[in-house]
Amino acid sequence: MKKVLYVSANPKPTELSYSKQVAETFMTTLKEENASLDIEAIELYDVDVQEIDGDVLSAWGKFASGEALTDVEAQKVATMNGMLEKFMAADVYVFATPMWNFFFPARMKMFLDSVLTAGKTFRYTEQGPVGLLENKQAIHIQGTGGIYTGTDLNFADAYLRQALAFVGVTDVTTLAVEGMNQFPDKIEEIVADAKAKAETLAKEVAGAVTV
Ligand SMILES: Cc1cc2nc3c(=O)[nH]c(=O)nc-3n(C[C@H](O)[C@H](O)[C@H](O)COP(=O)(O)O)c2cc1C
Repeated sequence: MKKVLYVSANPKPTELSYSKQVAETFMTTLKEENASLDIEAIELYDVDVQEIDGDVLSAWGKFASGEALTDVEAQKVATMNGMLEKFMAADVYVFATPMWNFFFPARMKMFLDSVLTAGKTFRYTEQGPVGLLENKQAIHIQGTGGIYTGTDLNFADAYLRQALAFVGVTDVTTLAVEGMNQFPDKIEEIVADAKAKAETLAKEVAGAVTV
């Protein structure tokens, strides 16, 4: 059974988030089109997500030396590994993020810090780093106040693509829900257009992902 991991990084409820509304349409269509999919949804603002802090770095150092972890180190590493396991098990990723100050929210970076793991999702070779994940695809549904399509300023989407490519996920589609602050009188139109695109995309993904 193919697994879909929906990861949202937005403390807003769906009714206040345009990208979550579009993601909801995407996920609903995906389920309707392919009932066999095993879908897990995570709102990163509703669960523990571990940042790389002193305890985590200390724990990673101890892995190399074989020294025992403290309870705090063990618990923090377990939180990160929980995310890593979900990430590695999924076939399709659906990310929904808002743009905040030219990037995605910090919790999304913390999520990526949990899943970019040497020896698990990438490894170094003499020729350079190699991604270890294969046959996965990702969708990034991104809400922005301004318009970023066609500019070099969408650091969030570019970074997410780079991080995913680093672990071997190169099939990435971005669905922009953009101009929400720049064109307040066009919000309904922008959301309707993005939802239509989400439906089409979800049908393609559901058709391509077979049991
Ligand atoms: C703290 C904060 C920072 C923001 N920074 C940007 C920004 O750098 N560029 C931009 O275009 N919009 C920015 N916005 C506007 C959001 O991207 C916009 O509200 C968008 O609709 C967020 O997606 P959402 O509706 O799914 O929450 C910012 C909004 C907030 C709350």
